[in-house]
Amino acid sequence: MRPDSIDEIFRRAKAGKALFIDRKALTPEFVPDHLSFRDGQIQAVAEVLAPVLHGSKPSNLLLYGKTGTGKTAVARYVQAKLGGEAGPNELTVAYVNARIANTEYRTLAELAKFINLPVDKQIPFTGLSIGEVTERIFAAMQAQKRRVILVLDEIDYLVKSFGDSILYEFTRSGERLAPGFLSLVGISNDLKFKDDLDPRVLSSLSEEELVFPPYTVEELREILTDRAQTAFRPGAASQAAINLCAAMAGSEHGDARRAIDLLRIAGEVAEREGLEEIDDTSIRRASDKMEHDRVDEAIRSLPVQNKAVLLAVSRFREGTNTGELYLAYASLCKRFGLETLTQRRVSGILAELDLLGLIEASVVSKGRRGRTKRIQLLISEEALAKTLSEDTTFGK
Ligand SMILES: Nc1ncnc2c1ncn2[C@@H]1O[C@H](COP(=O)(O)OP(=O)(O)OP(=O)(O)O)[C@@H](O)[C@H]1O
Ligand SMILES: [Mg+2]
Repeated sequence: MRPDSIDEIFRRAKAGKALFIDRKALTPEFVPDHLSFRDGQIQAVAEVLAPVLHGSKPSNLLLYGKTGTGKTAVARYVQAKLGGEAGPNELTVAYVNARIANTEYRTLAELAKFINLPVDKQIPFTGLSIGEVTERIFAAMQAQKRRVILVLDEIDYLVKSFGDSILYEFTRSGERLAPGFLSLVGISNDLKFKDDLDPRVLSSLSEEELVFPPYTVEELREILTDRAQTAFRPGAASQAAINLCAAMAGSEHGDARRAIDLLRIAGEVAEREGLEEIDDTSIRRASDKMEHDRVDEAIRSLPVQNKAVLLAVSRFREGTNTGELYLAYASLCKRFGLETLTQRRVSGILAELDLLGLIEASVVSKGRRGRTKRIQLLISEEALAKTLSEDTTFGK
C-alpha cells in the first residue's frame, strides 16, 4: 500500500471532526475513580489491611490473576483510601513495581523513598551491597517505629530474575523492625512463580491469597461504556462499536487493558481516516495492529538462540518434527556463527516459543513407533522476516 501523501493526511484531518475529547481516559496511566465489578476484591483487601489502622501488623497478602483483571487498579485504589484514612505518619503504604524498578537494588531504593532515611544513610543510585541497603532501610524503620505496607507489584518478575532472597529478608524482618513492621502485598499474573519460592517464604507471603477472575464480555462492555463517555465526543463510539471491542478483547480471557487499548487505537484509526464514528473496520485494523505489535515485540526481545530456533521453524511451511528441525537449526547456527546447542536445550526453547504463542509444538502419536512432536509456525513468515531483518545477527 502506498503511504498517504502528507497533503492527503492533513486534508482528511481538517475535514474530519475530532473523535476524542479526552484521549487520556483510555491510556494505561489513567486511574478511574470507580472500579466496577471489583467490590468483593476491594473489600477483601481492605479487611486484610485494616488492622494496621489500630497499630497491628496485617497478614501478608498475595493477589493473583491473569493480566488485565484489575489487580494493580484495586491495589492502588485501596492504597489511596488507606493513605487517606491513616492519621499518624508512622504508617506508610509504599507501592513499587518490580518490573519497572528492574533490579533488586532499584526495588529496594524505590522502597527507601517512602521512608525518611537519615542524611548519611541515603541510598545512592548504585554502589552498595543489597545487604547494606536492606540494613539501612530496616534500621530507619525501626528507629522511626514505622509501620509499612509494601505493595510489590509484578513480584514474579523479581523472583524470576533474582530469586527470592529479598523476600526472605522481608518475611523474616519481624523482630528486627519492632515496634515497626513490614507487611507485604505481592501482586502477580503468573502463578507458577510460587514454585520458585523457598517454602518458608511462600507460606509467609501467602498468609492470605486473593484471586482476580477474568472479566466477562458483559463486564468489559460496561467498563468500556464508562470510559468511552469521558474519552469520546457523543456519537463517536456507538454501543455496537463498544460491544465489538468487548467481544474481541474478551475472546481469549477478559482482559480490561486489552479492551481499553483496542477502543483507543480504533478511535485513532477512525480519526485518521476522517470518519465520524468508529466502525467495524477501524476496530479490526486496530486489532491487527495490536497483534502485529505484540508479535514484533515478542520476537525482538528473544535471546539470540531462541531467534535462531524460531527462524529454523519458519523454514517449514507445512510444519516439521523435532529431528528435522534440529538439523535446520544446526545449519543456521553454522551459517550465522552461533554456538550450536544440544537437542535437549533446543526442546526447552521450543517450549518457551510455544508459551509465547509464536509456534505450536504438539505431541502426536506415531502408532507403535512411539510419539513425536509436530512443530509449526503460528505467525506470518513475512512478519518474522521483517522483524529479524533489523537484527544484528540475522540482518545479514
Ligand atoms: N473494574 C474496572 N473498572 C474500570 N477499569 C478497570 C477495571 N479493572 C481494570 N481496569 C482498567 O484496565 C486496565 C488494566 O487493569 P490493571 O492494570 O489493574 O490490570 P492487572 O490485573 O494489574 O494486569 P497485569 O497483571 O498485566 O499487571 C487499567 O487501565 C485499569 O484502569
Ligand atoms: Mg498490574
